[in-house]
Amino acid sequence: MPEEALNIIDQRTKSSYEFPFFKGAIRAANLRQIKTGPEDFGVVSYDPAFLNTAACQSSITYIDGDKGILRYRGYPIEQLAEKCTFLEVAYLILNGELPTEVQLDNWVSDIKYHTMLHEKTKNFLTGFNHDAHPMGMFISTLAALSTLYPEARKVRDPEVRKLQIRRLIGKVPTIAAYTYRHSLGYPYVYPDNELSYTENFMNMLWRMVEPKYRPNPVVSRALDILFILHADHEQNCSANVMRAVGSAEADPYVATAAAAAALSGSLHGGANEEVLKMLDAIGSKDRVPAYIEKVKAGGVKLMGFGHRIYKNYDPRARIIKWAADQVFVATCRNPKLEIALELERVALEDEYFIKRKLYPNVDFYSGIIYQALGFKPDVFTVLFAIPRTVGWLAQWQEMLEDPEQKIARPRQIYTGYEARDFVPIGKRTAHPALAIR
Ligand code: CMC
Repeated sequence: MPEEALNIIDQRTKSSYEFPFFKGAIRAANLRQIKTGPEDFGVVSYDPAFLNTAACQSSITYIDGDKGILRYRGYPIEQLAEKCTFLEVAYLILNGELPTEVQLDNWVSDIKYHTMLHEKTKNFLTGFNHDAHPMGMFISTLAALSTLYPEARKVRDPEVRKLQIRRLIGKVPTIAAYTYRHSLGYPYVYPDNELSYTENFMNMLWRMVEPKYRPNPVVSRALDILFILHADHEQNCSANVMRAVGSAEADPYVATAAAAAALSGSLHGGANEEVLKMLDAIGSKDRVPAYIEKVKAGGVKLMGFGHRIYKNYDPRARIIKWAADQVFVATCRNPKLEIALELERVALEDEYFIKRKLYPNVDFYSGIIYQALGFKPDVFTVLFAIPRTVGWLAQWQEMLEDPEQKIARPRQIYTGYEARDFVPIGKRTAHPALAIR
């Protein structure tokens, strides 16, 4: 008998089963041994929204949601945010170790080599309405890159993968900046590879007629920190999409577009935009208690609060709060900060939020900084997607290199009709339930 095993007795048959633990889990496929007879398919586990299912083994990101801990490759997020550049962290996330000076230099120049977009991509962007949502433009442009790099479909070739990873990390700030300039009706600005990753992003966003863009170092460092904090977050909704789409051997451009589509949802990365709308709707500090009552009555959600994994303060929110103070030295203080701080104070003292362990998440304060930097709320999620591209690609690569992974294909519990005979159209009666469709 294995030392560490789970014993199960099936009350239907009185049979007993013993399943060994695997790294603290049981393999769900073992449950199939539990049958009532040879015709029985066997037991499946039912887990809508993956509340308790580990779909992979991963060595990239570690979260302890009860203690509020986040680490990339073992390094605490606080240390990485304080001491690293974003591209250094990107190297760590993708390769497992921090780079040496030589490795970092090579990596940075590799990424810079890929910052330009094919001119055709510009034509494609021009077709969007001036008021198209930046995330819609970002997602579509990512998917369109697939048509420019058909070799990317060879996802089993490590060299091909390596090239696409560099291309994607190099190009996402350019796409993001182009979508931003498009919304404003400004001409596109080409990358300046003398600048760092975030400085060049600022150049592509904000350069007007000056011959050389001079980035504000406080702002570029704040962006670097924000990018580090958003780079990966283990098996979240968009990472799961990246793995699922990638498991079908779709190319990384369309897989990244799919992941970005998941991120755009208001319960995921789209929450940062919703937080700003919420702060606007609240309007002033004195109206916070009334809003909290509305949340408790179930009318609305407190956006930027709560998390599937964190049942404690999200460590990223703590760092962002600190970074906000640095940013406000270089920009004007965002008056919405007062409302956000009051919301947090009132919520954290309220039984509703205490009981449900609802704390501020990464999206609660990020929008306040982004707005102080001059971004409109509809761009916020694109700012999240740029660094998260690194995490998606690391998850994608890990999935493809994992011999246990196959095409993602969950089971279902079928609740529909048993077999029934076709009814000709003249003999059908309208089903009452269809009136609402
Ligand atoms: N405001 C009010 N109540 C909430 C909130 C909230 N923001 N979040 C959760 N709850 C309540 C929820 O109604 C439920 O209450 P009850 O037990 O009475 O039914 C309880 O807390 C548990 O919530 P849940 O919906 O079962 O939790 P979940 O793990 O399925 O959802 C979440 C996690 C992040 C989707 C949710 O907390 C939420 O909608 N938050 C607001 C949106 C948001 O800020 N999203 C950004 C997440 S962090 C960045 C990222 O990953 O993209």
